[in-house]
Amino acid sequence: MSLATLYSRARVGVASPLVTVETHISNGLPSLNIVGLPEAAVREAKDRVRSAIINSHFEFPTRRVTINLAPADLPKEGGRYDLAIAISVLAASGQLGEINLRGFEFIGELALSGEVRGVPGLLPSAIACHQSNRQLILPEENQQEAALVEGDAVFAKHLTQVTAHLLKQSLLPACLVKPSEPLPLEHKDMKDVKGQYQARRALEVAAAGGHNLLFIGPAGTGKTMLASRLPSIMPVMTEEEALAVASVQSVAGRKMGLDWHWSERPFRSPHHSCSAAALVGGGSIPKPGEASLAHCGVLFLDELPEFDRKVLEVLREPLENGEVHISRARGQVTFPARFQLVAAMNASNEAYTGGQDYYQSSASQKYLKKLSAPFLDRIDLHVEVPPLPSTILVNAQEEGESSEVIRQRVEVAVERQRARQGLRNNQLSGRQLETICALNDADKAFMQQALETLKLSARAYHRVLKVALTLADLSACEVQRKHLMESLSYRKMEKTLTSVAS
Ligand SMILES: Nc1ncnc2c1ncn2[C@@H]1O[C@H](COP(=O)(O)OP(=O)(O)OP(=O)(O)O)[C@@H](O)[C@H]1O
Ligand SMILES: [Mg+2]
Repeated sequence: MSLATLYSRARVGVASPLVTVETHISNGLPSLNIVGLPEAAVREAKDRVRSAIINSHFEFPTRRVTINLAPADLPKEGGRYDLAIAISVLAASGQLGEINLRGFEFIGELALSGEVRGVPGLLPSAIACHQSNRQLILPEENQQEAALVEGDAVFAKHLTQVTAHLLKQSLLPACLVKPSEPLPLEHKDMKDVKGQYQARRALEVAAAGGHNLLFIGPAGTGKTMLASRLPSIMPVMTEEEALAVASVQSVAGRKMGLDWHWSERPFRSPHHSCSAAALVGGGSIPKPGEASLAHCGVLFLDELPEFDRKVLEVLREPLENGEVHISRARGQVTFPARFQLVAAMNASNEAYTGGQDYYQSSASQKYLKKLSAPFLDRIDLHVEVPPLPSTILVNAQEEGESSEVIRQRVEVAVERQRARQGLRNNQLSGRQLETICALNDADKAFMQQALETLKLSARAYHRVLKVALTLADLSACEVQRKHLMESLSYRKMEKTLTSVAS
């Protein structure tokens, strides 16, 4: 056999398209050529594969070797094709006998000694391979990730183990390590938060409907404390969500059990000095940013007005459709980014006086000008976090409800949404919303008046309805006037804020 064909997988965002590796050995001066849009690291595979084959006691063919990575228009990067290239060279040079390799996929980088090294972003490939009904042969370092997908993937430490497996001399072990358990969230429990009943309620509503939230208040009132406790009251992740989160973490090269835990809702808190690329992702080979790392979890922007305005604007796209699109000369990469935004800010650096006047003082206005109205529009719940009365703070007996109790209520509300529409309330389209949340004539008139008084945009109106629907779900009933009123109350600061912001 002088021609061998086998499969590997590329990485494009969180997708993993199939790559066919074809090797042809022909007469001519000894040479090795890789064609099919390989980037530098793939071109260097030549030297790694040659040494790995020789050091595994095989022969490297002293003829003309051509390797084609198809499809040719898909950019190939990294060392992930080394193993596939080495096996195809061995097969094409007849060193594996008459063997059919079409039932396998190979991913792994090779050391010069023939050792198989781990690669970043293996999980999306394992998911795609499982769907194609082929057996994935992968590096031992990646087996924990691959074990998240039910399938018959096997792992290897050395090239010789892979050839022995293919020749059925000794089979490779299957990936069976169970995922790491999520860490207990005891150190971040809602029971630590004293008072702040309105903020606690808003947090529960946000968790139940997947809404975005803004805490406004003076320093030291517990805004950061409250926000960091949102993951502890969010519903338990579904298998599908957990795999989507794991895929993003895998592509970002973050290690399971170390940087993140299986089935744990992400909580990302980027510093206000971060760049737009750090927030939504970027780089010549695009990597996910904070917005995608927070997929299915919380993106917390503390000290919101300190963020560069242009940086915040890039969040408008993922806030609207839950995805980030990064365009490069060679194509577009899409990362999921359906996070819940929680922002916190002091309205001013002045001493707190309370009420609307505070937000309209000149110092506040200067501060709030840093935010744009369309950005604020996308935040459903604006909540004031006032200073805590000293009696509540000092009273040691004063303990709030625990996260577990709140989470139970949230789960019931989420179940109602899943049963009714298969989506969370924040994902409903305007049309779906109008069918599900049909208002009677009196409520319509009430909403019309409220829209005019508060000068809400069409987007804000739909968001008010979504929050009202979540409030009704938390009380296990249909939307009533009191839900509309409570929902509007979370927008009452909007007029003040947007009159300043532009
Ligand atoms: N409601 C509260 N219940 C219990 N402790 C609180 C509360 N509010 C504040 N604290 C205490 O104050 C500390 C500071 O709170 P936190 O950092 O959340 O304030 P903040 O509102 O984010 O302030 P800043 O605007 O300066 O960032 C907390 O770590 C906690 O010890
Ligand atoms: Mg804070």
